[in-house]
Amino acid sequence: MARKKSLWCYFFLVVLKETSASVECSFIDAQEIILMCIPVGVPDVILKLESLPLNGYTEMVLLRACGITELEHDSLKKTSLKYIDLSENRLKELDSDSLHNSPSLAYLNISNNLLSRLPVDLFVGNPHLLVLDLKNNFLGNLDVGVFDSLVQLHTLDLSWNLLLGKDLSSLLFVNNKYITYLSFAGNDMNGTPDSLLQSLEVLEVLDLNSCGITEVAKFATQSNLKTIKELNLSSNKISKLVNEEIFKNLHNLEILNLAHNELEHIDENVVAPLRNLKVFNLSHNELTYLSDNLFRRMLSLENIDLSHNLISKVEVEMFLNNPLKILNLSFNMFTFLPNTFSMSLRKPNANITEFYFHQNPWQCACLKEILYEVDHLKVTHKTDVPGYMRPICVTSLEMRCIRDDSVNDVFRNMYYNILDGNRIWNTIRDSSNRCLKPRLHTAHFRAVSKEVGR
Ligand SMILES: *[C@@H]1O[C@H](CO)[C@@H](O)[C@H](O)[C@H]1NC(C)=O
Ligand SMILES: *[C@@H]1O[C@H](CO)[C@@H](O)[C@H](O)[C@H]1NC(C)=O
Ligand SMILES: *[C@@H]1O[C@H](CO)[C@@H](O)[C@H](O)[C@H]1NC(C)=O
Ligand SMILES: *[C@@H]1O[C@H](CO)[C@@H](O)[C@H](O)[C@H]1NC(C)=O
Ligand SMILES: *[C@@H]1O[C@H](CO)[C@@H](O)[C@H](O)[C@H]1NC(C)=O
Repeated sequence: MARKKSLWCYFFLVVLKETSASVECSFIDAQEIILMCIPVGVPDVILKLESLPLNGYTEMVLLRACGITELEHDSLKKTSLKYIDLSENRLKELDSDSLHNSPSLAYLNISNNLLSRLPVDLFVGNPHLLVLDLKNNFLGNLDVGVFDSLVQLHTLDLSWNLLLGKDLSSLLFVNNKYITYLSFAGNDMNGTPDSLLQSLEVLEVLDLNSCGITEVAKFATQSNLKTIKELNLSSNKISKLVNEEIFKNLHNLEILNLAHNELEHIDENVVAPLRNLKVFNLSHNELTYLSDNLFRRMLSLENIDLSHNLISKVEVEMFLNNPLKILNLSFNMFTFLPNTFSMSLRKPNANITEFYFHQNPWQCACLKEILYEVDHLKVTHKTDVPGYMRPICVTSLEMRCIRDDSVNDVFRNMYYNILDGNRIWNTIRDSSNRCLKPRLHTAHFRAVSKEVGR
């Protein structure tokens, strides 16, 4: 076989503060030579990496978590190198020419180091680089031109650095039109120029979680980005979705994550262009209600996560256009759902298989009806989450599901008073140790709740 290589094993020196450690070669499949540090993950040895004894065949260098603080001049210069993992070390800087003689380099992982800047000509010798992981460093800015030679780059992870979107140049990615995965998560992307990603032609995943942004970033939704399939906007400070233009280009989007934001309301016209959306994650927001037509035009929507909001009402009609498989309504404000709600989500084109509704201030009678339905339909559900000391439901003496908004407050107060009292339902007993069975009468409920909440 042409690629057959001799299996030389190098022992060599990586030096040295107080201790010396060795870097060894090992073999993946008797063809590739990889170099890796032994023992992996030495915590306190501080190493200066001198010239690695790479030979002309070495393709992989795996030096993850080796305590490397510096790459000595020439250490990685080998034309055969394709894959370099230097993640989880303590590199503070890289010389401009550290990678210049590795023209075949396709994968470079320098994540989890201490880099605060990248020399502008660092990558000039690596036109074939496909994957570049710079996650979790201290990069404060990126010079225009630094990625210019990476004309084939498809994965770029810049997450959890100290970047300020407002300081990034619109020319930063001019030559990187083939990027398909891009992450800025954990940087401050407020004020990023709208044209930052103007040259990208095939972007599929854009991760903007934890970027401190207060509205859906315009740079993420420009017309050249209509190829995006997955947009992660979770853990930001977005409180409104009102700009009807904002998603107009994203009609290929399949996954939209808006979890952990501050949304109180969503205008249905804003999300209407997302007609290919499959997963819509709205969990951990402050939604109190959903407009009737919110999902109506999303004809591919299969998975809706509305958990951890303040919603008390949904109508079956809201979901009738969606081929829904998974619905999460847990941790909301429901005391009841529409009659035969889950049955209705088993219509000709929908086939709900997972439905979560636990941790709501349920009326016991209503909960019982739903449980009966989901058991009958064999839909996966949960009644409780281990570790949560929460009541499961509250009831009046009359075990009847009362589908009337006007009684919601009564049941909710009862439920939350119990919750505040930090007791679970089945421990609530009166002075003679009988289980309390409050009647459906507001004043009485309040009294009971008070008593229970004490
Ligand atoms: C880079 O290395 C880290 C481990 O330090 C790993 O978690 C991550 O997945 C790697 N990145 C890529 C793109 O392979
Ligand atoms: C989005 O970011 C969150 C962190 O906020 C992460 O848990 C999630 O896996 C990411 N991806 C998607 C598709 O939501
Ligand atoms: C929604 O996002 C939250 C937070 O990132 C995550 O925990 C949850 O699993 C996501 N839901 C779905 C359906 O992906
Ligand atoms: C809601 O339920 C879905 C389906 O099990 C799950 O993937 C998702 O993580 C849940 N959401 C949260 C915030 O836990
Ligand atoms: C609905 O989903 C279940 C479980 O995935 C599957 O067994 C069943 O065939 C599906 N029914 C239809 C009509 O798609």
